[in-house]
Amino acid sequence: MIRISDIIKMGPQDEPHEEGKDKKETSLLDRAVKRDVSAGIKQLYNEGIDLLKDIFDKIRQTRQFSFSQVEEYVANSIDFKLITNYVGQVVDRVVLGNGEMFDYFYRYRQQDYLYEHSLNVCLLAVKIGMWMDMNKSDLVNIALGGLLHDLGLINVEDIISLPRKLKHKETVKVREHAVLSARMLEKVKDITGDVIDAIRGHHKRLADKDFTKGLSNEKLQRMAQIIGLADVYEAITHPRSYRGPKLPHEAIKELVETESNNFQVKIIKSLIDNIGIYPIGSWVRLTNGEIGIVASINKGYPLRPRVNIIFDASGNKLIDPKSIDMLSEPHLHIESPVDISKNKQLIDKLK
Ligand SMILES: [Fe+2]
Repeated sequence: MIRISDIIKMGPQDEPHEEGKDKKETSLLDRAVKRDVSAGIKQLYNEGIDLLKDIFDKIRQTRQFSFSQVEEYVANSIDFKLITNYVGQVVDRVVLGNGEMFDYFYRYRQQDYLYEHSLNVCLLAVKIGMWMDMNKSDLVNIALGGLLHDLGLINVEDIISLPRKLKHKETVKVREHAVLSARMLEKVKDITGDVIDAIRGHHKRLADKDFTKGLSNEKLQRMAQIIGLADVYEAITHPRSYRGPKLPHEAIKELVETESNNFQVKIIKSLIDNIGIYPIGSWVRLTNGEIGIVASINKGYPLRPRVNIIFDASGNKLIDPKSIDMLSEPHLHIESPVDISKNKQLIDKLK
């Protein structure tokens, strides 16, 4: 079992900061590339939401269809070439970027959560696959699986929007969505059997007796588990109809406590190693009173990320946000995470 303490112990905490690293990071070219990637991610995120709205809307129209009609309809009315092209761009941007996707991942807007959830799972699954050194074609498959893993939830939208915790019977019904999502895609020529199998298996857990049924080889198991883990982390960090979101550091703790035996150690460790104790996109208060957003993780130093400072110690929004690499600031520490959603004053200043 992995414990938070194991992760904190990881890495040579007291080694001096690499000479010249800051200089390299702040070069004009570097900044221009980062700006470009950042703008690209924003556009890509919005395009993804529109694409998913369209897909889910089309599937909503099939509620009265027989299942074979649904399969035909999905295969003929949804442009999967466009979707495959889209996920190819997602992979390129996520791989090129420096965690900019997390700026969008942790946001929750008032739109139907299914679109944001599907896109977030897609983005995080690609990121986990990338951290695990998967090749581009596997990452594209993971992205496709992440984007389309919850199509079957359309059949239980009334249950998942209930403003309370689900009863056992309802949970069993909702669980069927993984198989439904896969069945809906079975006649689609542009999606491989591996992607469909991974979607079908994204709620399977290592502890399940039939874990390998339908997930016959290691590659498939890894794909399904990466999508499944991204699904769980996304769900914990976002609000649902009956509960609020957990902060990233609380989500990591919950994940370690409740899911360590459900996922392959290397997958769960890869997420925790790279997301850090203070994940990218989360808000933190430093010991000097300044408040900012974690911009990147210094691997091996989970308590010393790079932070973009947005508010000064008096709570005033900085006109020019500054970036602090906490590896270069040994006297400065993170005092606490900040739940920005509960701080109306700061939220108003961000508008
Ligand atoms: Fe799911």
